[in-house]
Amino acid sequence: MVEAAAIVEKAGPDILDINFGCPVKKVAGKGAGAGMLRDIPKMLEITRRVVDAVDIPVTVKTRLGWDCENKIITDLGPRLQDCGIKALTVHGRTRSQMYTGQADWSLIGELKNDPRMEIPVIGNGDITSPEGAAAAFGSFGVDGIMIGRGAIGAPWIFREVRQYLEKGEYEPLSDAAKFDILRRQIRESIDRIDEYRGILHIRRHLAATPLFKGIPNFRETRIRLLRAETEKELFDLLDHISETFFGNRVDS
Ligand SMILES: Cc1cc2nc3c(=O)[nH]c(=O)nc-3n(C[C@H](O)[C@H](O)[C@H](O)COP(=O)(O)O)c2cc1C
Repeated sequence: MVEAAAIVEKAGPDILDINFGCPVKKVAGKGAGAGMLRDIPKMLEITRRVVDAVDIPVTVKTRLGWDCENKIITDLGPRLQDCGIKALTVHGRTRSQMYTGQADWSLIGELKNDPRMEIPVIGNGDITSPEGAAAAFGSFGVDGIMIGRGAIGAPWIFREVRQYLEKGEYEPLSDAAKFDILRRQIRESIDRIDEYRGILHIRRHLAATPLFKGIPNFRETRIRLLRAETEKELFDLLDHISETFFGNRVDS
């Protein structure tokens, strides 16, 4: 981890975030990611040594604990802080929960309100709307929130959340603007990787987008969307969707 941290630092990021939260079996099962929640002394040592190894701020992201019998975050938080990290993000689930059930924010709030905690505590889990974001700040007093799945297929959520937090209301984007953002995501994904893999990557975002939720008779189109293999096919299909299901309200 110390060697990896040095490599990461050379790439010039603003911060280095250690992921002690990944629940995937091939990661956590080996003791990495959320697997570190089963060996706290090692987790703390790694954190301390990474903090010492780099000049940029180091932050940690983790979960409540390994399982429901071991929700240790309120004890762990101050100890991670003592390692010199600059912020702590907590996903309100245990490793055993993976992504099931509901995130439990009560322990995140308890940690945040622990007078020993001086670094920012960032809450994470199940925020999918501007109202949910505001409630998380209001009810639990966290310094920040992170949004994961709520942004998949809906990257405009961040704009809506920001507006809502600043003004108490938000102006939902037009469907046309949402289409434009999805097109841009596709283009950027292709530019970043290549046409085939870029499309493979972005298809799951298209599959999840709330823009296409609840459209009657959409099934066949959705299947075509998820099978498209070329940029042209995908863009033609989006044009078709905007014309057929959104009354041609999209300028393309
Ligand atoms: C497909 C997928 C990939 C993820 N990859 C990462 C990752 O690389 N690093 C990380 O810190 N969290 C990762 N997460 C976890 C999320 O950042 C987040 O903690 C979790 O999904 C709970 O927040 P949410 O309810 O807003 O999605 C991933 C989650 C999903 C569903």
